[in-house]
Amino acid sequence: MSDIVLEGRDLTRHYEVRRGAFRPAATVKALNGVSFKLNAGKTLAVVGESGCGKSTLARLVTMIESPTSGELEIDGETVTKSSKELRRKIQIVFQNPYGSLNPRQKIGDILEEPLKINTSENAKARRAKAHEMLSRVGLRSEHYERYPHMFSGGQRQRIAIARALMLNPKILVLDEPVSALDVSIQAQVLNILADLQKEFGLAYLFISHDLSVVRHIADEILVMYLGKPVEFGQAETVFADPQHPYTAALLSATPMADPEREKKRIPLTGELPSPLDPPPGCPFNPRCWRAEEKCRIEMPKLEPVAGQEAACFFPLSVAKSEAA
Ligand SMILES: Nc1ncnc2c1ncn2[C@@H]1O[C@H](COP(=O)(O)OP(=O)(O)O)[C@@H](O)[C@H]1O
Ligand SMILES: [Mg+2]
Repeated sequence: MSDIVLEGRDLTRHYEVRRGAFRPAATVKALNGVSFKLNAGKTLAVVGESGCGKSTLARLVTMIESPTSGELEIDGETVTKSSKELRRKIQIVFQNPYGSLNPRQKIGDILEEPLKINTSENAKARRAKAHEMLSRVGLRSEHYERYPHMFSGGQRQRIAIARALMLNPKILVLDEPVSALDVSIQAQVLNILADLQKEFGLAYLFISHDLSVVRHIADEILVMYLGKPVEFGQAETVFADPQHPYTAALLSATPMADPEREKKRIPLTGELPSPLDPPPGCPFNPRCWRAEEKCRIEMPKLEPVAGQEAACFFPLSVAKSEAA
């Protein structure tokens, strides 16, 4: 028995977009072949700049959208169009705590709605569960009767987390759950998430554009670039010894107190290319200071290097002359 609760195999999502009346429709490769495994009770962080496909991945794994191709397994079962039951096992918390709660509903009703729709539990049981969840996320009983506008951003995000847990899911997808919050509030919400994970044995797919946010909560890290994974490994290893130049650049741009290592500043120059028109070869090559001719022609595959995996012809632990 494996304890993998979520697995993606070559998940791909393309969007057809119109570019005006006289131009042919084009294809946005928002997600372009992503494979990963998430273990029960663990956190896999998915990181990368805005536009690299993180939210698209979140929508696929929560069955909000279907993949263009690829396979998804939730709790050992392959997802098909009719797998409604699997939906309950995986819940999502979105970035924006202001948009995700219905302003006309009381907190109690917001929390109980998933139970009303998906279970036959009676009013008393629903109410008891809502009160229990409120207390688990550090809110008080009297908050049950209040409306979303009466809460701060951090409190609203805690309500969204409580709602996501009402159906006892195994997996929580957290799409930039603290990115809209003040830094002082971020740690509070991250601590609650860490406590809930232990308490309920939850697995987290934790999405963030900011590596410093996932530093303490991630067990493993998947770095994405333009819809593809470019690095994967244990969190400590990726932080201490990144192999892909993109990961190193992201880390360098992340303010993190690290007295043991004098970090070299690696500038992340240029813009993320449009997924409508990705460069040939390695998608990172136009911004990469290690890129050579080969990188402009061939697409590197994700391969084992120095204890992790990287999609790079010239990973950082390998001297350039050796790798070539
Ligand atoms: N419904 C859609 N139609 C067309 N393009 C989309 C759609 N959703 C996302 N995209 C594009 O796919 C790419 C990845 O988007 P997204 O998954 O939101 O990235 P991230 O969450 O990492 O910022 C972006 O270029 C975005 O514009
Ligand atoms: Mg996003």
